[in-house]
Amino acid sequence: MAKAAPEPKANMGQPYPRLDGRLKVTGKALYAADFPVANPAFAILVTSPIARGYIVSFDLAEARAVPGVLDILTPENVEGLKEVAFFGDGGPAATRIQPLSSKKIWHDGQIIALVVADSFEAAREAAYKVKAALKAETPAATFDSPGAETIQASKVSKRHREDPAVGDAEAALARADVTVDVEYATPTQHHNPIELFSTTCFWEGEQLHVFEPSQAVYVLRRGIAEALGMDPANVRVVSQYIGGAFGSKGSMTSRSPLVALAAKRLNRPVKLIVTRSQGFTTATYRAETRHRLRLGADRHGNLTALTHEGWEVTSRSDPYLVGGTEASTRMYACPNVASMVSLVRVDRNTPGFMRSPPEVPYIYALETAMDELAVKLHMDPVELRRVNDTMKDPIKGVPYTSRSLVPCFEEASKAFGWARRSAEPGSMRDGDWLIGWGCAMACYPSQMSAAAARVRLERGGKVRVQIAAQDVGTGAYTVIGQMAAERLGVSLANVRVELGDSALPPGPIAGGSITTASACSVVSKACDSIREKLFRAASTANDSPLSGQQTSALTLSDRKVMAGSVSEDIDRVFDRLGVGVVEEYAEWIPRESTADAIRMLYNGGVPIIRGETKDRIAFAFGAEFVEVRIHAQTREIRVPRIVGAFAAGRIMNPRTARSQLMGGMIWGISSALHEQTEIDIQRAKYVNDNLADYLIPVNADVEQVDVILLSEEDNKLNPAGVKGLGELGNVGTAAAISNAVYHATGIRIRELPIRVEKILNAWVEKERSMQSSFRACRGR
Ligand code: MOS
Repeated sequence: MAKAAPEPKANMGQPYPRLDGRLKVTGKALYAADFPVANPAFAILVTSPIARGYIVSFDLAEARAVPGVLDILTPENVEGLKEVAFFGDGGPAATRIQPLSSKKIWHDGQIIALVVADSFEAAREAAYKVKAALKAETPAATFDSPGAETIQASKVSKRHREDPAVGDAEAALARADVTVDVEYATPTQHHNPIELFSTTCFWEGEQLHVFEPSQAVYVLRRGIAEALGMDPANVRVVSQYIGGAFGSKGSMTSRSPLVALAAKRLNRPVKLIVTRSQGFTTATYRAETRHRLRLGADRHGNLTALTHEGWEVTSRSDPYLVGGTEASTRMYACPNVASMVSLVRVDRNTPGFMRSPPEVPYIYALETAMDELAVKLHMDPVELRRVNDTMKDPIKGVPYTSRSLVPCFEEASKAFGWARRSAEPGSMRDGDWLIGWGCAMACYPSQMSAAAARVRLERGGKVRVQIAAQDVGTGAYTVIGQMAAERLGVSLANVRVELGDSALPPGPIAGGSITTASACSVVSKACDSIREKLFRAASTANDSPLSGQQTSALTLSDRKVMAGSVSEDIDRVFDRLGVGVVEEYAEWIPRESTADAIRMLYNGGVPIIRGETKDRIAFAFGAEFVEVRIHAQTREIRVPRIVGAFAAGRIMNPRTARSQLMGGMIWGISSALHEQTEIDIQRAKYVNDNLADYLIPVNADVEQVDVILLSEEDNKLNPAGVKGLGELGNVGTAAAISNAVYHATGIRIRELPIRVEKILNAWVEKERSMQSSFRACRGR
């Protein structure tokens, strides 16, 4: 079988190619901005050049004089837009700031006007000619900026109400045989999906139609309805294909209601495509973080104490938080744990979700600290993980539903050849290249959401599945179709899957890696109702070969209802029912959910069940092994190979799963070595806000990436047995690379990304201090 389509192991589905693959590569998939609307007008955003202050006045004369200009929306002529609650407070919006509702400037690049014209060119020209008199104040840009305000996260966040803790970490640290006390930092990272952010709106009387790439069409529908003060039933959001999202299209950003409003004012369709650089400030991003980790262990490597303090940048307006201590304090057996998350408020746009929002920075810190501990203990880092493996949550004591961390380390280390590693830093070399081998754990909570779906089976065996879930490029169409095909005994080619439309029953948000578990669970439930109908009809008819059979003994495959070797064609069963179609609507609520979860979904809420609940803890795990090569003269860093082994419950499709995990590890390489948004500290402005200056790995930076999928069965979570893995692969990669860099050089870089200049500087420092201690020795 091809590498892209791994052979399924136990508890894995078939590696079917994506249902939407051909549409995408032939250009037939309609992305939101492609959707043909009649006679559209084109909108362009005007954004603030200052980060803090207010708008004194506008001069629109020159802009209005541009031929073709239809309307210019500013805070001076827009009224009645309502503030929408922040996502972190249970609302649909990425920020509570509704920019055209006031003249206050909260951050650089804030929307201050929307120009609409007959053509894109006219709108752009007029946008350049909008003049705004601004009163600027000094902004705080990031950590340590004067005016930055630090607050304890648990006091302001509705998501993170308490900091995980157990036992007495301070006392245990004081008694520990070996300790590490280290600080790490991760940079700002910006979303750069290849599909730009866009919104297209038109009105049909009271009915508003919205085409926008969205990870949550019901959430966006609610957000726009709340901003415009209208009934959500009159808003329809369509988002069928999405060209990259990773969190950036998960909550409503402030542009969407503005476009809807502009379309209403003009009574004409309006299309807005946000420029690449405007996306940096009008959408969300991954905020910079800082960490202090203290680990204590006995001589055998058993952890006796763990403390994790995190600091995260957020905006003045919203307490966005990732709070990754929820995960980092629960990964290893440890009787004494303390943690604290703080938010640092500055004059920036509000950060938001980016693939594995909490785990990427916090597990980087944890897994680098674990490596530092292994070095101090003179212990193999894999052995350190094994010694501290646990089958229960160290904080609350509840059991893991399943956990294959150690098998992941075993499989990946074997495939990687870890046994051949020489532990001493700098001891492996190939000519001018210093070789470093490092590893780290990957984890992601197994989250789920209530969901609703409609499934229909036609006489002849055609199937249609309808659910307002979203495929962000991950393979959701395909795995949802596979679940229906399998349960209804037809081939995947007979299944049509409809997603991404708020006219369909509400599905899970395409976030938190919940889609496969949640959508497949509700679809299998709807299929069960269809099966039950067919089974009853087949077993209760006197002239059926299946007459008198228990329905529980029947199965459905190859378009036949079967009991052992006896069967009846489903068309015959349809005849018995006297219908051409059997259609079932189903709702599925995870055991841990509240009873109103489905009502919340219909209202654009996000009823997510997290990895840890009151009686169990559920995570998917992985182990990642990396080889780096660092040139002894130039310190150029290469990553010739990376191996990851992962276990995530049932794997619906090994092809799409492998692709997610591989893509995740590639992003991990990017996090470790490339990506960083540079911030102008004086002006709180992003400097490299374009794809030319924002470093990401290209093909030449990514060599061999191997994904190993482990069989794992977890029937405690959901009917699909699925944990979710979309955000698993990019967790731990940065730590594995950072640990490999240490192994190659003996230099520990504790601030991402690790770049040539940081290694060079540290190297010079190291040689200088070695020389001076050498001199000191001789002098004595
Ligand atoms: Mo993903 S960052 O949960 O949209």
